[in-house]
Amino acid sequence: MTVVAANTYAFEGLPDEVAAGLGPMRRGKVRDVIDLGDRLALVATDRLSAFDQVLGLVPHRGQILNQLSAWWFEGLADLVPPHIVAAVDPNVSIVEKCDPLPVEVVVRSRLTGTTSTSLWTRYESGRRRIDGIDFRDGMVKNDPLPRPVITPTTKARSGHDQPLSEADVISGGWVGAERWDQVRTVALELFDRGQQTAQAAGLVLVDTKYEFGIGPGDRLTLIDEVHTPDSSRFWRLATVESRRQAGLEPENLDKEIVRLAYAAAGYRGEGTPEPLSDTLAAETAAAYRQVFEVLTGAPLQPAPYPAESRIAAAVATSPHARRVGNGAR
Ligand SMILES: Nc1ncnc2c1ncn2[C@@H]1O[C@H](COP(=O)(O)OP(=O)(O)O)[C@@H](O)[C@H]1O
Ligand SMILES: [Mg+2]
Repeated sequence: MTVVAANTYAFEGLPDEVAAGLGPMRRGKVRDVIDLGDRLALVATDRLSAFDQVLGLVPHRGQILNQLSAWWFEGLADLVPPHIVAAVDPNVSIVEKCDPLPVEVVVRSRLTGTTSTSLWTRYESGRRRIDGIDFRDGMVKNDPLPRPVITPTTKARSGHDQPLSEADVISGGWVGAERWDQVRTVALELFDRGQQTAQAAGLVLVDTKYEFGIGPGDRLTLIDEVHTPDSSRFWRLATVESRRQAGLEPENLDKEIVRLAYAAAGYRGEGTPEPLSDTLAAETAAAYRQVFEVLTGAPLQPAPYPAESRIAAAVATSPHARRVGNGAR
């Protein structure tokens, strides 16, 4: 993986020699994951990925995603146990290490998107049965669906995720039938809560992606991140209808800003994309920040840069980094 744009005032990730003192590290596209034994330290960086590649750095992106996820995990904990143990730094959460289910659970409420796997792209190309779901003729981009749908994808370690129908998930042996039934019920409950919460904050939660794992005690656990502008589409509620009537795209407050800008510049996901421009990085940072602030109702308190030594110290000294006693399981 290469970071193609550098920004002095952003957090690119933990240098190898810093991570080495904390535990074995795996670099995901956007997070550095440190293995602490029973637990993981998820270190959210400012790397922005789209089209399955890192395009550049977005200031405070890591902090926003980490803190917003922590906020949601707490608010959703009555629906499903979350993996989070503690947010020990603006950029770091200590989480229970789970056995991740091999599928990502995408829930969608609108016919939208720009990439080859999006509902709109596939509908526009003439398909009316997509991921096992039937769509009526005559729909236009961004139309609401009669009810939220689940479109699972495989979780590829690298490269593109493959779309699956719910039936494929079970027949392909990705997840057992009973477990899948539990997953789909929980995913729809989470999405319903997410939509209501977003609406109260003046946003539309259009779609999202959940990851689940099996945690301590064989419990279905919500892992990764939740309802962030990286994993979800958010539209500004106040202007959705007026812009739609004017034939305009909604105001996107999420990573779609980046995808649309690249699409407008002619990039369709093939070949190497241009590095993220400073202007687009700043626009994305502002949108992410807005989503954080309207949802949590609190101003973002930007953590200082450079972040590396602060983050390393937070992981090294956290009392949550190891499970203690025998009561935790
Ligand atoms: N509680 C957890 N237990 C095990 N793995 C997790 C947990 N939470 C998140 N993960 C995994 O950690 C990684 C987070 O880093 P990320 O940058 O998102 O990686 P990726 O490029 O694979 O999407 C993901 O692979 C995610 O599935
Ligand atoms: Mg990920």
